[in-house]
Amino acid sequence: MNTLSFSSLAQSLGEIPPENIIFGHSEPMLAVRSQLAKVAAANVPVLIHGESGTGKDIIARLIHGLSPWKSGPLVKVNCPAIPGTLLESELFGYEKGAFTGAYGTKPGRVEMAHRGTLFLDEISELDLSLQSKLLQLLQDGQFCRIGAQEDKKVEVRVVCATNRNLESEIEAGTFRQDLYYRINVVNLRMPTLRERRGDIEDLASYFLEYYNRKYNCRAKPLSNEVMSVLQKYHWPGNIRELENLIKRYVILGHEEVITNDLVSREPDFFNPEISFDGPIELKKLTRQAVRELERKVILKVLQQHHWNRKQAARTLSISYRALLYKIRDAGLPSNRSLRMRQAENSKVNAGVAAD
Ligand SMILES: Nc1ncnc2c1ncn2[C@@H]1O[C@H](COP(=O)(O)OP(=O)(O)OP(=O)(O)O)[C@@H](O)[C@H]1O
Ligand SMILES: [Mg+2]
Repeated sequence: MNTLSFSSLAQSLGEIPPENIIFGHSEPMLAVRSQLAKVAAANVPVLIHGESGTGKDIIARLIHGLSPWKSGPLVKVNCPAIPGTLLESELFGYEKGAFTGAYGTKPGRVEMAHRGTLFLDEISELDLSLQSKLLQLLQDGQFCRIGAQEDKKVEVRVVCATNRNLESEIEAGTFRQDLYYRINVVNLRMPTLRERRGDIEDLASYFLEYYNRKYNCRAKPLSNEVMSVLQKYHWPGNIRELENLIKRYVILGHEEVITNDLVSREPDFFNPEISFDGPIELKKLTRQAVRELERKVILKVLQQHHWNRKQAARTLSISYRALLYKIRDAGLPSNRSLRMRQAENSKVNAGVAAD
């Protein structure tokens, strides 16, 4: 397993994140990794771009941990979480009497990040006036507290993250192009989990070990069948979704948790991943599409017949044995797993009723 330890960094941040980052072996992650060391050492702004749950936070923390200012503060600002009117004072601080209720002087997070890293999460949420204040900060390291007469100077490394397409925001007039160029000196694109399927096994084993230790559980390594289900799934929630799924498996202790969960997340599970990158192999693509369609039809018919497989086989005009084989092959839940799930639900409901 290809890992990079950052437990001491995690401790210094007072959080309990995973102790290792799994870079794995997929090409897009290897590209991120090779950029990281260079990027972290040079004190330039970095823009981390990627879908939700791809690891933008974890990478921002790593950039700080590998930077020359690693012993300085890492100050994170979750832009969407702070209402627009408060964001300016939160970021840049204020002087006594700057507005009603400003009874004292308060430094902003920009100042708190002096000689450290300012991590602006979901940067596209900054309104245009704050964007221009941030631009000034990036240009000459200066900013002005609300109500202050003079500018202040800080030395700070700015790391931004977004899951939006900032170029479209520029076209729509909601994001400043000059700011985009400033924050985007280095661009790290976090690949989706769909693009790094080869790493799913390493990630799943890592989370299994991590949560077994954390919750003092003894969940077994995943079987090949379940692993192949994980390989096929679309992962709209990326690594976070995989992590939560494995956490549930560790706590509940049986693999049906995984197959049932993914099947109930239809249609994403059945979203055929047909790639048109590189040379097209028509035969392979067609086979893949047919298999996906077959899984979809079998699931629908099983649901119609409340998982009565004999009736489903009759409706599908195939033998009972052939259906059992196809269910296993497609990683669909077995009858047994369904019964376990029902029993689980009724236990939960009984618990709720008892409360
Ligand atoms: N490479 C990785 N190795 C191990 N764990 C990871 C990795 N990437 C992400 N994770 C874990 O997945 C979860 C989601 O990661 P993170 O919060 O960094 O994603 P994000 O891109 O910032 O998501 P969002 O856009 O929703 O803020 C976290 O619990 C994190 O610890
Ligand atoms: Mg994040």
